[in-house]
Amino acid sequence: MIRTGSENMDNPDPAEFGILDGISEVIATTRSDSGIPNAAPIGIIWNRDRLHVQLFSGSHTRQNAARTGKIVANITHDLMMYVECTFEDPGPEAFEYPGGMDYPVLKRASAWILFECNQSKGNMFELTPIRGVIHDKPMLCINRGKNAVIEALVHATRYRLNGDAQYLDLIRHYDRIVQRCGGDREKEAIARLKEIMEIR
Ligand SMILES: Cc1cc2nc3c(=O)[nH]c(=O)nc-3n(C[C@H](O)[C@H](O)[C@H](O)COP(=O)(O)O)c2cc1C
Repeated sequence: MIRTGSENMDNPDPAEFGILDGISEVIATTRSDSGIPNAAPIGIIWNRDRLHVQLFSGSHTRQNAARTGKIVANITHDLMMYVECTFEDPGPEAFEYPGGMDYPVLKRASAWILFECNQSKGNMFELTPIRGVIHDKPMLCINRGKNAVIEALVHATRYRLNGDAQYLDLIRHYDRIVQRCGGDREKEAIARLKEIMEIR
């Protein structure tokens, strides 16, 4: 079901969804050949009027996007969702298949765009918007606490890759910013990240 009051568009303009010049962080949802939904933070790269994602080998997102030729960008400002989707996947109850679509989106997204996704070169996949829905357009000021949760998460993924302890110090640094500038939800998100990373 598409929620009442939602705007539903074919061939949507990503700029209307807040996907602008530079790299926009979203939660990408995909599904496997057998229909298992997956969610992970991914950056959408807007470069000279072209949209791409860079999908590194080894992730479910890359495998699913390459096999199905589709990917959904879910726009959300709920940082807890970013933490939950980075190292684990939310349960099936977090996903929905609006209007009979055979591709999953996050129930709690403010908006989403379904893209056709074609591998262009190496790890780069070019995106073409097919369909999009906007549920709500929160007017958000820049909040250093929200940004700090994202930075901490990026360092957490790097720590997982190479175990370099400097990343743990960086996570602690961003934790201090979250404690100073974040709201309750951002504090819960960084606490969950520290729990996953076993940082005291
Ligand atoms: C803020 C943020 C942005 C990310 N951007 C990307 C990206 O653009 N491409 C990518 O391959 N991985 C990116 N990652 C890492 C993936 O989210 C991570 O590898 C995840 O575990 C993949 O999950 P999956 O195996 O379920 O697809 C990002 C992580 C964070 C926290």
